[in-house]
Amino acid sequence: MTRLLPCLLLLSCLAARAEEAPPGLTEYLGRQIAMTMHWKGAEWLMRRVREQEESPTLMRRQLDVKPGMTICDMGCGNGFHTLPLAAAVGEKGKIYAVDVQPEMIEMLRANLERKGVKNVEPINGRFHDPR
Ligand SMILES: C[S@@+](CC[C@H](N)C(=O)[O-])C[C@H]1O[C@@H](n2cnc3c(N)ncnc32)[C@H](O)[C@@H]1O
Repeated sequence: MTRLLPCLLLLSCLAARAEEAPPGLTEYLGRQIAMTMHWKGAEWLMRRVREQEESPTLMRRQLDVKPGMTICDMGCGNGFHTLPLAAAVGEKGKIYAVDVQPEMIEMLRANLERKGVKNVEPINGRFHDPR
């Protein structure tokens, strides 16, 4: 019984935590939420034609990012937005770059190192806990 009790306590704690997690949304503002993109397709995120397809520069301009700001890039992938955001906030600013896939975080780290970017903190988050 003395061995069983801690196990039962642990199981009930885990069950309580699982219940706390909100159910995943399937829709947001009337649009269907896409499946999580697999890290094996990460190269596609850096495609040259993305500028013409999505106007990401215009999108970031609309965010009105200023030097010294602290920003969270949630679902950062391999850093397509993270790198220009890091340049926009400058050395006094900071970017928390969060992704649930450790492989994406690894690729982000490599990109940061290659470009010598120092003001980004890569974080391997969980689906219900960005850490
Ligand atoms: C389509 S990719 C976009 C990556 C990047 N933001 C870009 O525009 O190139 C979406 C990313 O969000 C991540 N993601 C999905 N759900 C997440 C969550 N709950 N917390 C953190 N990252 C998440 C995925 O692992 C994936 O790398």
